[in-house]
Amino acid sequence: MSSEFDNKVAVVTGAAGNLGRAVARAFAERGARVALLDLSEPVIQAVIDEQLPAGAETQAFAVDLLKPESVSATLQAVIDRFGRIDILANIAGGFTMGPLIQDTEDRDWDFMMNLNARSVFYTCRAALPSMLENGWGRIINVSARAALQAKGRMGPYCASKAAVKTLTKSIAAETKFDDITVNCILPGTIDTPQNREAMPDADHSQWVPPEALADVVLFLASDAARCVTGAAIPVYGKS
Ligand SMILES: NC(=O)c1ccc[n+]([C@@H]2O[C@H](COP(=O)([O-])OP(=O)(O)OC[C@H]3O[C@@H](n4cnc5c(N)ncnc54)[C@H](OP(=O)(O)O)[C@@H]3O)[C@@H](O)[C@H]2O)c1
Repeated sequence: MSSEFDNKVAVVTGAAGNLGRAVARAFAERGARVALLDLSEPVIQAVIDEQLPAGAETQAFAVDLLKPESVSATLQAVIDRFGRIDILANIAGGFTMGPLIQDTEDRDWDFMMNLNARSVFYTCRAALPSMLENGWGRIINVSARAALQAKGRMGPYCASKAAVKTLTKSIAAETKFDDITVNCILPGTIDTPQNREAMPDADHSQWVPPEALADVVLFLASDAARCVTGAAIPVYGKS
């Protein structure tokens, strides 16, 4: 069955993680050619072998998103392999809780700001020239509910996800005349094995399945969302 994503080139970061796997699978199931980026090539390859449809055009790219030269070289390798970058889904990121802000170390601040915000800056900076050259592009970033509803003992995390949301809107303003849309989603708690282990007594049925978030990512990459840019879309499920 044909799909609007047939032959589109989708780059998915954090592709070995919970949400990244779901997003990579959703694009691959709809005919996109998918570049899966994460830290470990064998781990990404296992995702491709075990969780993506057989016959999908995919490739694993090991990269540390905190190293700007590696990010640029990797996205160039994606272009060498697939010809261009149409869609960039920035899924990689992480979460830490910590002490009160007066007790927060520089390294804890840097860890969250780097993993969640700097990584998005690096991939957007490296992917935009290909999108501008082709006159078409879709960027979907992952912020978080915490960007709007900040909580104590999560200052670096909340600030880093707020940075993703604001950076998304800046890039959208810069690209709105170029047929490039730039949006972010704000997940609530995602239903992951790690969250179930950390919060065994919570009502897991209220959390957001990764597949439901992947549906929103694909909507933002679709033609139906061609006039949506600079949006920050809450995806909270029932929580
Ligand atoms: N889980 C939630 O409840 C929740 C809620 C709101 C927002 N989010 C956001 O949603 C996104 C996906 O969450 P998730 O639960 O799917 O996370 P996850 O399972 O931890 O996946 C993140 C992936 O990114 C990889 N990664 C980490 N640092 C990297 C780096 N420097 N370079 C390349 N790859 C790197 C991780 O590799 P390693 O495992 O080897 O470190 C992992 O495979 C994140 O941006 C997260 O902040 C999550």
